Amino acid sequence: MKILKMLACAAVAAVALSGCGPKDNSLKMITEATFPPYEFLRGQEVVGIDVEICRAVARKLNRPFKAETVDFDSVIPAVISGKADLAAAGITVTEDRKKNVDFSIPYVKTGIVVIFKKASPFTDAAQLKGKKIGVQSGTTSETYVLEQLKQEPERCKSPAEAVAALKAGRVDFVISDIDPAKNCVKGEADLALSDFITSEEYAVAIRKGQPELLKAIDETIAELKKSGQLAKWIRQFTEESDKLKDK
Ligand code: ARG
Repeated sequence: MKILKMLACAAVAAVALSGCGPKDNSLKMITEATFPPYEFLRGQEVVGIDVEICRAVARKLNRPFKAETVDFDSVIPAVISGKADLAAAGITVTEDRKKNVDFSIPYVKTGIVVIFKKASPFTDAAQLKGKKIGVQSGTTSETYVLEQLKQEPERCKSPAEAVAALKAGRVDFVISDIDPAKNCVKGEADLALSDFITSEEYAVAIRKGQPELLKAIDETIAELKKSGQLAKWIRQFTEESDKLKDK
């Protein structure tokens, strides 16, 4: 009897470990957490504006919520393959990406900027031609260098890594989305930011052909905008990620 019981326990444990047990109903968000204030690490935990938006979607759908971070190049592929349900990573809506995923309504209007050394100021896009430009791999900053400047960028894992390369003199300029750029130059007296060189909008991306999920995301975003909660999170996480820089 005792042996039978032990065997049964072992079987249950094995099923749980192999993940074949009761289906995991959580809504999985995929992101790349080096992008404050949209997503960054608070210790081991992925936090930020995008995380709260996705958590609010999970709440609306009455499902548990999980967030995972991977390289930015792998974020959109993860929803296409079904590894994750929601991709939210300060993802700019582009015509190219629209071919592969569906986008929610946008939740932020933004754009990319040039980060430069005050000692060699940036004034005009023509200056970028032929220069070494650091960008986060897979981003619209990379596309800008490839398509507008028709040259190869220096690909980095994160905006912060690109800025470290700028400080070390390995690149001449960095191009990045404005909010992580602001976070990067905080406390750096030698660095400055240009005006926007593009105009972009962020939205949540999901695998194509899920109209109900898309509707739930759109409704959530519309509510968060209307109630002022989104603006609150933007303030809160900007403050928190700026403080992390002070340490
Ligand atoms: N908005 C840019 C893009 O969509 C950069 C996003 C990078 N996001 C991140 N979490 N690292 O390409």
